[in-house]
Amino acid sequence: MRKQVVVLIGTGSIGQAIVRRVGAGKHIVLADLKIEAAEKAAKTLEDAGFEVSAVQTDLASRESILALIDHSRQFGDIMNLVNAAGVSPSQAPVATILKVDLYGTSVLLEEFGKVIAEGGSGVVISSQSGHRLPALSEEQNTALATAPTEELLSLPFIASITDTLKAYQYSKRCNVLRVMGEATKWGRRGATVNSISPGIIITPLANDELKGSRGEGYRKMLSLCPAGRAGTPDEVGDLAEFLMSSRGRWITGADFLIDGGTTASYFYGDLQYLKATH
Ligand SMILES: NC(=O)c1ccc[n+]([C@@H]2O[C@H](COP(=O)([O-])OP(=O)(O)OC[C@H]3O[C@@H](n4cnc5c(N)ncnc54)[C@H](O)[C@@H]3O)[C@@H](O)[C@H]2O)c1
Repeated sequence: MRKQVVVLIGTGSIGQAIVRRVGAGKHIVLADLKIEAAEKAAKTLEDAGFEVSAVQTDLASRESILALIDHSRQFGDIMNLVNAAGVSPSQAPVATILKVDLYGTSVLLEEFGKVIAEGGSGVVISSQSGHRLPALSEEQNTALATAPTEELLSLPFIASITDTLKAYQYSKRCNVLRVMGEATKWGRRGATVNSISPGIIITPLANDELKGSRGEGYRKMLSLCPAGRAGTPDEVGDLAEFLMSSRGRWITGADFLIDGGTTASYFYGDLQYLKATH
């Protein structure tokens, strides 16, 4: 029997929280560079009553994304796309961050934009980090939003990045702009696409950081943000669920900052001291 299909790339806890909310009664494709991660998520979700399949996918490769689309379409129409895959500044060198987070996400939006079903929706997980970058020029914004995907990494202001934090911030800014550019195309198919920019969300990795040698700095930062704590994957899931629901049909090409007020505080409040380091 053909089903509606939800595709999740990046099967960490943020991605899982989202598909748990939108995947009941559908087929959920769990795609990750690490097949063990996809299979682990598949077991958890299967044991909670979801229909799933796990597949190895490299977001940085167009060929791999096309294979993911082929795999997904065998189950039915692709109704939802969730991109929660990514590498952070402390996990990878500049070239990998740009290839996965900036280029890969752009290719993903381009290719799924050709096959997304009418009434469908997509969500890309960006980051509050992209909001810390100063305003770019109109020309740079237009290039990140609309340049052919194969030209993105050769744009002079991208090709000259040497610092992993900058690579991450430009990638996340690009995610937001690319979503705006792609929303104009997804709309012609009757589909919406938005980005979500989370602040610090507690995942196993973030929890290790909080308890580790740099933990004190993190805990201070969290206590000083307006919400006074980190976020949870479920809170991001709730926002994504709304955007992907029937109530979110008039929302597309938009970015949603969900950070407990951290960005507000970074610019105008107690977290301004971070400007010296971020
Ligand atoms: N956790 C946070 O505090 C936080 C905050 C802001 C934004 N984000 C963003 O949320 C997204 C998910 O992060 P998370 O915290 O759940 O991290 P995570 O590491 O738990 O999940 C990311 C997943 O992406 C996969 N991945 C990495 N490279 C890939 C590739 N080339 N192709 C396919 N999969 C790949 C990893 O194997 C991993 O399973 C990322 O884009 C991250 O930048 C996270």
